[in-house]
Amino acid sequence: MSQETFDPVQQVEVCRVCGGSDWQEVVSFGPLPLANSYLEPGGSLDDEPRYPLGVISCRSCRLLTLTHTVDPEVLYRTYFYVTSDSDTIATHMRGLAELCVERFGIPEGGFVVELGSNTGQQLAAFRDLGMEVLGIDPARSLAAQATERGIETLPDFFSAQTAARVVKEYGRARLLLGRHVFAHIDDVADIARGARDLLEPSGVFAIEVPYALDMLEHNEFDTIYHEHLSYYSVSTLSTLFARHGMRVVDVERAAVHGGSVIVFVSREDAPWEPRPVVAELQELERASGFFEDATYDTFAGRVDHVRQTLAPLVRELVADGKRVAGYGAPAKGNTLLGVSGLNAGDLEFCIDTTDLKQGRLQPGSHIPITSPEHGAQNPPDYYLLLAWNYAKEILGKERAFLENGGRFIVPVPSPRIVSRVEDL
Ligand code: TMP
Ligand code: ZN
Repeated sequence: MSQETFDPVQQVEVCRVCGGSDWQEVVSFGPLPLANSYLEPGGSLDDEPRYPLGVISCRSCRLLTLTHTVDPEVLYRTYFYVTSDSDTIATHMRGLAELCVERFGIPEGGFVVELGSNTGQQLAAFRDLGMEVLGIDPARSLAAQATERGIETLPDFFSAQTAARVVKEYGRARLLLGRHVFAHIDDVADIARGARDLLEPSGVFAIEVPYALDMLEHNEFDTIYHEHLSYYSVSTLSTLFARHGMRVVDVERAAVHGGSVIVFVSREDAPWEPRPVVAELQELERASGFFEDATYDTFAGRVDHVRQTLAPLVRELVADGKRVAGYGAPAKGNTLLGVSGLNAGDLEFCIDTTDLKQGRLQPGSHIPITSPEHGAQNPPDYYLLLAWNYAKEILGKERAFLENGGRFIVPVPSPRIVSRVEDL
């Protein structure tokens, strides 16, 4: 009779890793706009959709997950996020390609598939090493852009179904890679099944995710936004893949995005013996209190400290006649701004190198995004470092700003003012 209405938001009831339902509440940030939905100027600012944003922890496998999921069709079909072309990331991608090829003996011409391949930058590094590559990304314009630059990319979500199609049309892969995409996925069981099917028997699934241990330790709460459904540890990923006949055989820690892990997973019967680091990191997680409620209560307390001190710090400077702007307009900056309540009355503008973002407004706070050139011509007294994951690179290239008396406010783990790269 009545047509079912489409609800883009679902509350998480059951743990996507272990099926448990005993949750610890960790943090709740109230409804916030989607972090990557930069606004066109001149449009209405009143009807910005907002969705609940909070994190809970599964007491059984200690998956950290958002309380609600937003439909991926809403999040990713038209998507603004373009992989950073920063030096930090370019170097990381080249290193990652070399590491995978060497450690898992991928021969010249080996088939490498990437899910969430964005503009194809990572796959280009594999192609440079002589690999055959295929991208899979649901963002239609990004997939087209990648294909145009010679990295064939299917405009799809990765799933068991997509995997079956790839096997049929292209054959099995030596390596399946997912950089900063696995944490965006709700039905991880389907991905695990797809990975198993897609890979050759000795193939490897390399997953790069922000490391939950780093997030907790360095109070990187702003990495919590609607796209990041899960915050993983090695222990939780091991639990997940063990349920699908696979196991973690190696892990690398990487400094990118505030601390990440690259977790290498293969079939249980593949010829890769788990390296000692896998057990060592699981032990480190246990010893760091990863399985204890108190750890998450402490984290929530540290988040609250930023929530209560950052806006007063900025407002005191502004009241003192100082000009404050944002450095970078990363998605996580919108969680930071949203949680701390900073808006266009506090920060004059945010500079960002991404063409697509310039001229738009930050979601929620409505701070205008401008070019770095604009920032250089109108230097503020303080830059709030929203892109803190590139702190060294950015302070390194902003020597002139610093030498002229400019300062950075580094928001996490706890707000502080920095005037030299050496003080980071
Ligand atoms: P990311 O952390 O998701 O890579 O986003 C970083 C954002 O910061 C991205 O929008 C580009 C921007 N950015 C600058 O504006 N200047 C810089 O020097 C760097 C490294 C990043
Ligand atoms: Zn669980």
